Amino acid sequence: MHRRELLKQSVLAVAAFGFSRDLFAAESPGPKYNDQVADLIKLSSNENPYGPSPKARKAMSKAVNGCNRYPWETTTLLRDKIATAYQLTKDHVIIGAGSSELLGLASVLAALKKGNIVAPDPTFRLWMPAAKKIGAPVKLVPLTQEKGVDLQRLKEAIDANTRMVYICNPNNPTGTVIPADELEGFIKGVSPSVTILLDEAYTEFEDTPSVTHLVKDHPNLIVAKTFSKIYGMAGARVGYALAHKETIQQLNDLQPWANAGAGGISLAGAIASLEDASFTAMCKKKMQKHVIFLPVTGS
Ligand SMILES: Cc1ncc(COP(=O)(O)O)c(C=O)c1O
Repeated sequence: MHRRELLKQSVLAVAAFGFSRDLFAAESPGPKYNDQVADLIKLSSNENPYGPSPKARKAMSKAVNGCNRYPWETTTLLRDKIATAYQLTKDHVIIGAGSSELLGLASVLAALKKGNIVAPDPTFRLWMPAAKKIGAPVKLVPLTQEKGVDLQRLKEAIDANTRMVYICNPNNPTGTVIPADELEGFIKGVSPSVTILLDEAYTEFEDTPSVTHLVKDHPNLIVAKTFSKIYGMAGARVGYALAHKETIQQLNDLQPWANAGAGGISLAGAIASLEDASFTAMCKKKMQKHVIFLPVTGS
């Protein structure tokens, strides 16, 4: 596939070149090296240059005053709000310091069950080293010629020792999207003894159908999502995952303090972000227009 086609395909990031910095005026000036490249917009790891939303900024400023207390109530409130949004209950929701914490915990959980993990190649790899160190080999399955996740070959790679399959949809770094019916068919077809870790960090940019509605009926499904991308809060470090409550409990058991990875200020920002639909709609519209392909595989 030509790079041009890849560019068109991907909405994983926004255009870096040729746009006025005014477009991104909402972003703070940032570290010093930004001054040296005054005409460029820093995109770094597919971050959202517009965020956080005005409502989130206000909520975070206010939350500073409560920093003498542990944010148990705020984290519970966020879990409740997320659960309601997906028609689940809060025991289906785990909060982490970004979704990467939760991808890590899910893969550690799988690795502790002694077996292998199957994943497409290339994909987002941040979680792989920890799983490998615990002893789980990662079986990598090449993408299709069109740079899409090859569900058929992923399925064929699953063996009696497979404990988890990781899928990123849209896939990072190729931006390709798995059609909803194919992904649903895959999830329904995989043995219930194999965990399916679905990384939905970018679904909101593409109108990619989410598989969160399958969580209720599929105890082996974990869906990881983040406030880092469409909500523009990468530096605040808030992510969440949805799964059956037994799985959530197992993931919580691997956290020193369950759901306490994200701080009170960040949690307050995340809650407010959920209530700022017009801001996320604006981000989506602008980023869909100004697209460039940025590989961030976490290697
Ligand atoms: C596909 C994918 N998943 C997860 C993450 C981790 O995001 P965070 O830990 O900020 O939620 C990233 C970050 O770039 C990503 O690209």
